[in-house]
Amino acid sequence: MLKKAQEAAKYIREQGIYQSDTAIILGTGLGKLADEIEVDVSIDYKNIPHFPLSTVEFHSGKLIFGTIAGKKVLVMNGRFHFYEGYSLKEVTFPVRVMKLLGVKNLLVSNAAGAINLSFPPASLMVIDDHINFLPGNPLTGKNHDEFGPRFPDMSRPYDPEFIGILEEIADKNNITLNKGVYVAWIGPSLETRAEYRFIKTMGADVVGMSTVPEVIVANHQGMRVAAVSVITDLCDPDNLKPVDINDILRNAAIAEKDLVLLFTELIKRL
Ligand code: HPA
Repeated sequence: MLKKAQEAAKYIREQGIYQSDTAIILGTGLGKLADEIEVDVSIDYKNIPHFPLSTVEFHSGKLIFGTIAGKKVLVMNGRFHFYEGYSLKEVTFPVRVMKLLGVKNLLVSNAAGAINLSFPPASLMVIDDHINFLPGNPLTGKNHDEFGPRFPDMSRPYDPEFIGILEEIADKNNITLNKGVYVAWIGPSLETRAEYRFIKTMGADVVGMSTVPEVIVANHQGMRVAAVSVITDLCDPDNLKPVDINDILRNAAIAEKDLVLLFTELIKRL
C-alpha cells in the first residue's frame, strides 16, 4: 500500500500539485463546491496510478487542485463507496495519498437519511461522532507506522474546533445546522423499516453509505476532520414511503448553497 500511495503521490506532484493543507471530498449532489474552485490542475482519477476508478454516474472522478477563499485546496470530485465493490482499503487509498501530499485537514460532505425525525430534509448536520457499521475497518492488517499507530484514538474523530467554527458560521448566516451521529450502512439497498428502528436504538441521528472509512484513515494519520451531512430524506419506520432518488438529489441540491457557504467560510479560517 505504502509504495502504491507513494507512486500515486509522485504522479500527482508531477502534474503540478504541491502542498495544500486542506483536502475536500465532495459527496453525492454536492458538486457545486467544485464550481467555486479557481482550478490550477485537474486530473482524471483514471490517470493516477493505483487510484480506484469512480463508477457512480453522478461522479465525474477528478482530483482538482486550486484555490477556494484564497486557500490552496485539493478536492476529490467523486468518491468511492464500499457498496460499489471496492475494498475499504481501496475506498481510503486517496486519503493515504493526501497524507503523502502534506494534507493536514480533511473536509467531507455526504448525503444521509434522517433517523432523528427533527432533522428536516434539505437541512444540514455537522457530524459530531460516528458508528462504523460497515463489515470491516480500513486499518485491519499490517499497520504502516509511517502513517499512524496500530490502535488510533477515536475519542474525537471530528475536530471539536472545526465543529465550533461551523456552528458559528451557520449561526451568523441563519443556516440551520443540526449536530449528531452518523452511522455508515453497507448499502446499496436502502434500509427496511425494521433496520431503521434498529439504527435508532444504536444512537445514530442519520444514516448514509460513506465517509466513515475515510474519517478512520484520516484520524489514523493525525489529520483534523470536519464532516457535514446533507439530509436528503426522512427515515420514519412508521410512515415510510418508497425512496425516490430524484427527491434525494433535489434535497441535496437545495442544501448545496448553504453547504458551499459553510465550507468556504471554514476554509477561510483554516
Ligand atoms: N439511507 C437512507 N436514506 C439515505 C441514505 C441512506 O443510506 N443516504 C441518503 N439518504
